[in-house]
Amino acid sequence: MPDFKKILNTLYEETKQLSDTGKVATYIPELASISPNKFGICLLDIEKESYQVGNFDECFSVQSISKVLTLAMAMGIVGEKVWDRVDVEPSGDPFNHLSLLEQENGIPRNPLINAGAIVIADILVSELKDPKKEFLDFVHKISGDSTIRYDEKVAQSEKATGFKNYAAANLLKSYGNLKNDVIEVLDFYFYQCSLSMSCAQLCHTFYLFINRGRCMQNLEFLTVSQVKRINALMLTCGFYDEAGEFAFEVGLPGKSGVGGGIVALLPKRFCVTVWSPGLNLKGNSSRGMAALERLTTLSDLSIF
Ligand code: DON
Repeated sequence: MPDFKKILNTLYEETKQLSDTGKVATYIPELASISPNKFGICLLDIEKESYQVGNFDECFSVQSISKVLTLAMAMGIVGEKVWDRVDVEPSGDPFNHLSLLEQENGIPRNPLINAGAIVIADILVSELKDPKKEFLDFVHKISGDSTIRYDEKVAQSEKATGFKNYAAANLLKSYGNLKNDVIEVLDFYFYQCSLSMSCAQLCHTFYLFINRGRCMQNLEFLTVSQVKRINALMLTCGFYDEAGEFAFEVGLPGKSGVGGGIVALLPKRFCVTVWSPGLNLKGNSSRGMAALERLTTLSDLSIF
């Protein structure tokens, strides 16, 4: 294994100096008040050794990173039936675009764009008695950490302002690809996005994606084939219209959120989470992308 401690310290100091650290998301009002200076990194290797720097232990809003976790939970419950209602192609569009959804008769391009994640939320609302509680229980189990919580203020803030998501859900409903009530499904979707987690907690949660479906406590949540598929989706669809750039510059499967977090991983080797709230024009953490580019360059590790 490379000297991750040294590499993290080096890339942290380098990327801290960057002048263009992007802009904090303001379209969800509650996210607008976060300091753009926050910057944390945690890396967890397959041997469960962890390395960290900066604000790695501070909770932030995971937002779209949660889409990977709801997908994992839905695949665990309904298996490959998920793909009857959501495709597995990159969209090349921003996360909240609706035009392809209309062109493609209400079948979202993939489960990591908003429309796809709303269909996954609908599946969980159909399958679970108390979706918000049971999803949080699932996150507690796979992370081994029962302190993880939703951020009520963030959930309510998005509920009051998430008009594009209401539009997406209504469009899905009009094509027959939403079985439950729009408001009920979006209530669950806004709560999943409001999960508040630190870089360290995200690494523990994503450990199962580097460990062939087994969590930190060695319990099996997904089959090897399911994990490979989710990792493939993170590579091709995890960064919306910047998925190509992320593969090109970083070379790892990963998922971003508008809270400024990025989780990326190298199967069987390590997972890493970076948090820096300033976003680039495509809605991905500016400093996070730069830091991960340095990580795969300095460690000479990527899926390629
Ligand atoms: O649906 C939304 O707009 C947010 N809750 C999540 C968006 C997000 O994180 C997009 N990703 N980078």
